[in-house]
Order: sequence, then C-alpha cells, then structure tokens
Amino acid sequence: MNHSIEKLFDLTGKVAIVTGGAMGIGKGVAIRLAEAGAKIMIVDIIDHKDAEPTLQEIKNLGGQVSYLKADLRDIKNLPSIITQTLKEFGDINILVNNAGIFSYCPITELTEELWDNTHNLNLKAVAFLSKLVVSKMIEKNHGGKIINISSIDSIKPSGNLSQYDSSKGGVRMLTRAFAKETGKYGININDIAPGGVNTPGGTKIAGENLTAEQQKAMKTQTEQFVKMLPLQRMGEPQDIGNAALFLASDASNYMTGSTLIVDGGLLIM
Ligand SMILES: NC(=O)c1ccc[n+]([C@@H]2O[C@H](COP(=O)([O-])OP(=O)(O)OC[C@H]3O[C@@H](n4cnc5c(N)ncnc54)[C@H](O)[C@@H]3O)[C@@H](O)[C@H]2O)c1
Repeated sequence: MNHSIEKLFDLTGKVAIVTGGAMGIGKGVAIRLAEAGAKIMIVDIIDHKDAEPTLQEIKNLGGQVSYLKADLRDIKNLPSIITQTLKEFGDINILVNNAGIFSYCPITELTEELWDNTHNLNLKAVAFLSKLVVSKMIEKNHGGKIINISSIDSIKPSGNLSQYDSSKGGVRMLTRAFAKETGKYGININDIAPGGVNTPGGTKIAGENLTAEQQKAMKTQTEQFVKMLPLQRMGEPQDIGNAALFLASDASNYMTGSTLIVDGGLLIM
C-alpha cells in the first residue's frame, strides 16, 4: 500500500450513514465526510424541513446528501435505513452511530422511562443498526468502517448521568466485541470518545430545569472548567468530524476495537 496523502483521506465513491446528523457532532461528521467525497445519508428524528439547513450546507460544499426521518429508539425503524440508503446510493461503506441523548439525573431520580429511552437510542440502536450494516457489508464482500460515538463518560463518569454513562460504557464494549468478529471481513469498528463539545444538546443540558441564577452559576462553572482544560477551549463538532474522517479513511486501516479520545486533555486534568 503506497497512498498519496490526498488518496489516503479520499472517500470518493463511498456511502456513509450518519445517525443524528442533522445537528451537533453528527452534523460536523457529515460535513467532513462529505468534504472528503462520501455520499451521506443522514438519519435523524427531526422533520425533514428542520434538517434542511444542514442538508443545504452540505450541498453548498459540493456534497451529495439525502435525509431519512426515523426514531432510532425503535429497532423496527432500522431496516428502512438500509433499504433507503441502497435505493438512493447503491451501497453502504461507512456507518457513524452518533445519535445519542443525555440528561442530568441523580440516582434517586432515575426512572425506567429515562433508562429505556437512553439505552434504546445510545446502545440498542447502535447494536442493531451495526448488525444490519455488517450483514450487508459481508454480503457485498467489500469490508467497511463503523464509527461509534461514545464519550469520555464511558471512561470516567462526570456525575449524575448514570443512565448515560452505562449506555456509553456499553458502546465502548460493543465496539470491541463486534470488532473482534468483523475483522476477518475487512470491517473496522472503532469509537470516538469526545469530551465537552459545543452542540445544541450540550447547550440544552446546561439550561435544563435550571433557574436563571443556577444558569449563571453553571456558566461561571463552565468558564472555570474551560480554563483548567489543557487545551483551554470546548470542542467543536468539526474536531470530532476530523477524527471521524481519520477512522473512515484508509489512514486508519490497521485500527479496530480502539477508542480515539478527543477531549482537549480533559482526562489528564
Ligand atoms: N456534546 C458533547 O459534549 C458530547 C460529549 C461526548 C459524547 N457526545 C455524544 O455525541 C453524540 C452527539 O451528541 P450532540 O452533543 O451532538 O447531541 P445533539 O443533541 O446536539 O444532537 C443529537 C442529534 O441526534 C438526534 N436524535 C435524538 N434522538 C434521536 C432519535 N431517537 N432517533 C434519531 N435521531 C435522534 C437529534 O435530533 C440531533 O440531531 C451523542 O451520542 C452524545 O452522547 C456528546
């Protein structure tokens, strides 16, 4: 293998499914992969019209993109993602399992509903969509790349997020377990563990159920936290997009079952 740098990161002709790609980290990933030449199928729960600004942004960059509205918490909705992607683009080479939800919840307030919602989206959908995509890649006999977005919370819990942390711990182990089985088919499966990233979901959690005073305190706390971070800034969706491009490209061909930590140094604080 003797690739030029340009060729190493070139995804021309590849088809990538990005879940939760309408905003936040998923949008950053979708944009990066499209810029590298991949055709993108965004799957998200929001209405098509609300995802239109993201789709337009990708098209303006010269990318090819399609959209499917689906609630990934119900695995009955997953097969149509495969059929629709094959119908529109003819193949599937890359899957980015990004859609995820997170809400602060102390152990004493944990409910079955929150647990099930979180685990159904963050872990169960990752398992069953990967199953469908892996089956198709094996059938087509061309290998592929699966990238799961876990979290640094899967390594070090930040507190009051037990339902989230357990789901993301599951994602990290699922990455390893599936990777062990799929290597022989040329399918690499890795996960990215982001630290704090500026996204609509991140902003929402900072304002969730908080009074104006609490929000002010949270803002001050965030500013202090950012100052203590070795890289002294929050992450941006494109930081995760860059890592996803690496894992989707030939540059990472000898990596599988690994976690790529992209956290501005949070874990070494
Ligand atoms: N933002 C952070 O600081 C951070 C840190 C570590 C890990 N992560 C992980 O990164 C991923 C993306 O997070 P984000 O901050 O961009 O979140 P976000 O809330 O900004 O975006 C999440 C996207 O997923 C979609 N989505 C939500 N529920 C869905 C469902 N049931 N079916 C289909 N799509 C659904 C949303 O519509 C949205 O487009 C998540 O898995 C999250 O756990 C985020």
